[in-house]
Amino acid sequence: MVFPEYRPRRMRQNDTLRAMIRETRLSPDQMIYPLFVMPGKGKREEVSSMPGVFRLSVDQLQKEAQACMEVGVNSVILFGLPEKKDAMGSGAHAKDGIVQRAIRELKNSAPEMNVVTDVCLCEYTDHGHCGCLIGNEVDNDTTLELLARTALSHAQAGADMVAPSDMMDGRVSEIRTTLDENNFHMVPIMSYAVKYASAFYGPFRDAADCAPQFGDRRSYQMDPANSREAMREATLDVDEGADILMVKPAVAYLDIISRLRDEFDLPVAAYHVSGEYAMIKAAAEKGWIDGDRVMAETLLSIRRAGADIILTYFAKDMARLLQQQG
Ligand code: PBG
Repeated sequence: MVFPEYRPRRMRQNDTLRAMIRETRLSPDQMIYPLFVMPGKGKREEVSSMPGVFRLSVDQLQKEAQACMEVGVNSVILFGLPEKKDAMGSGAHAKDGIVQRAIRELKNSAPEMNVVTDVCLCEYTDHGHCGCLIGNEVDNDTTLELLARTALSHAQAGADMVAPSDMMDGRVSEIRTTLDENNFHMVPIMSYAVKYASAFYGPFRDAADCAPQFGDRRSYQMDPANSREAMREATLDVDEGADILMVKPAVAYLDIISRLRDEFDLPVAAYHVSGEYAMIKAAAEKGWIDGDRVMAETLLSIRRAGADIILTYFAKDMARLLQQQG
């Protein structure tokens, strides 16, 4: 036999062959675009640490939704900047809160848009923690009721899906029960099941003004060193009724995405977070990397690791690039 018998290069000779054997693809159907909603009118403020990402007032949402749908991105996740904050984060479940208004506006002006909401208190508490405090501790069980009220208020405003990101124990079952008791049994829960206490959230905390005013989030978010614990977190959320399991951040946790994919049969989502986005943007601005190619390669790696769904600030840019590539 002639050496080498098998030549992998045979199938790399041209675009057609390469496309034919491509194992992983990106599609705008599987991307969710985060939106930051702020008070006021006619507001479109760029987040300084996230070039290309804007905080929008409610009246700007229709235009933004249209821009997303034009490139095939049909899902958004909403984060709110309330007018005022308090110790209990009461703005999170206010009937006329910023996210509730945003949901109503979107379901009104872009009814086809799949509107997902982030369920958490950190943008609404004056201390910036994801739950309410007893002393300096975030109290798990009193927070649960507030989270469930928040999720319910989102559903009542018309949200299509809720995504708890607080990392309190037992919140998925609390939210599921509350939604079911109020006839929202068809609203799915995308659980931030495996969320690490990560430094990659830095730019988001600028964007959403939700940095903790003291301490950090390590008593509720996961230790980046742990992988077996991620499986226990995911198991709990499956048992409590989650419909989608999310891993967050994405790129530094591709091993976790891959393990979740192997061990669970629910859809897996990954959040390519603010810091991951900002690093690519910054290096591209400096001319050190090709921003588009690094974006595409990064998002592909998240899919290849096993994520079905990607939450990413690149959703529109990536969808546009896919469109151009035909
Ligand atoms: C709210 C929340 C955060 C993010 C999503 N939901 C911030 C945090 O946990 O500190 C981060 C998203 C990002 O960095 O893009 N709890």
